[in-house]
Amino acid sequence: MDARVFQNCRIASQSPQGLIGNGALVAENGRIRWLGAAVDLPDEFRALPTRDLDGRLMTPALIDCHTHLIHAGSRAAEFLLRQQGVSYAEIARQGGGIMATVTATRAEDVESLVAAALPRLDALIGDGVALIEVKSGYGLSIPAEIAMLRAARRLAELRPVRITTTWLAAHAVPPEYAGRPDAYISEVAIAGLHAAHARGLVDAVDGFCENIAFSPAQIARLFDAATALGLPVKLHAEQLSNQGASALAASYGALSADHLEYLDDRGIAEMAASGTVATLLPGAFYTLGETRRPPITALRAAGVPIAIATDANPGSAPLYSLLLAMNMAATLFHLTPDEALLGVTRNAALALGQAADCGTLEVGKRADLAVWDVAEVAELVYRMGANPLFQRIIGGRE
Ligand code: NIG
Ligand code: FE
Repeated sequence: MDARVFQNCRIASQSPQGLIGNGALVAENGRIRWLGAAVDLPDEFRALPTRDLDGRLMTPALIDCHTHLIHAGSRAAEFLLRQQGVSYAEIARQGGGIMATVTATRAEDVESLVAAALPRLDALIGDGVALIEVKSGYGLSIPAEIAMLRAARRLAELRPVRITTTWLAAHAVPPEYAGRPDAYISEVAIAGLHAAHARGLVDAVDGFCENIAFSPAQIARLFDAATALGLPVKLHAEQLSNQGASALAASYGALSADHLEYLDDRGIAEMAASGTVATLLPGAFYTLGETRRPPITALRAAGVPIAIATDANPGSAPLYSLLLAMNMAATLFHLTPDEALLGVTRNAALALGQAADCGTLEVGKRADLAVWDVAEVAELVYRMGANPLFQRIIGGRE
């Protein structure tokens, strides 16, 4: 049996237990066995090996629930174009944007995709992250999409981190299918989903529902295929315009709808009814110079859980710090520090369908912890470019 006590820490449990002032947490065989006020630590645990955390703040290890971590090439040239006033949508229509990354990604094999992604993964791990969602979506052919997901699975073998994979073939229409998006959905997005699923590579299915990408009807066909395979869905929704994408996602019981700058009241109501998480991506909002914010007040009022993610990708969000994403969510979207932390813990776990296993510190869940050199949650959130991580503890092990 592998057990130990972490004590002399403030514990932001993210569960109904709330903040525990002078706390103790018992980890046993990778799971949380007990947590509470140090004075209440049961006698049976007092003889265990003990780690004194000197009054630091303990939170659940962080979760990045939306990334495009696997990609090749750079989009620095596009950055310059956008500075000159060319919009993201215009660049995409001219064949740049996502397609530029597709060309670069198709040219790489699994090994080089892994090598390129490792530094980005290490940056996230350095922010106290223990669970990361990684999407395909820069291959846009069956073999190239599968190569991306193989690379994602490989990352989890190389680092002490868990990775969930998402099939995002419905990210853009590649040139060989120009003008034939429905054929692409059938022949690549759906046929490839079956092939990738048969290889055990798919944990969830995503799409980009937008006037520069796929229509709600096309996404619905993909989601029908996902549902038939028993796979959960999520959607890039209402990023650049309102397509009714969030309501569509909610009608499939989607785990999350992501971006949401153009979300309307109907979408909010449908998301609330289906328990779909609103995943906010402030890095894309910032990079694209958006001015319209997601409807935070209405989401709160409707009780829709709000998650925050990096969206780490080479175009719209070249952001590889979840701590900075939290800061941006607070500064740009006016989330409170507590909401920002919930967004990368409890609600991010919900967005990945893993709420029973992680995201809060509760008995029975994984002992995946982050210990911070700060006294309170607001200190984690208000600084930019500072990293107060003291230690990541995974499965109760330092
Ligand atoms: O989440 N919105 C679509 N997909 C990505 C952008 C990908 C890219 O620009 O390469 C996003 O922002
Ligand atoms: Fe994205």
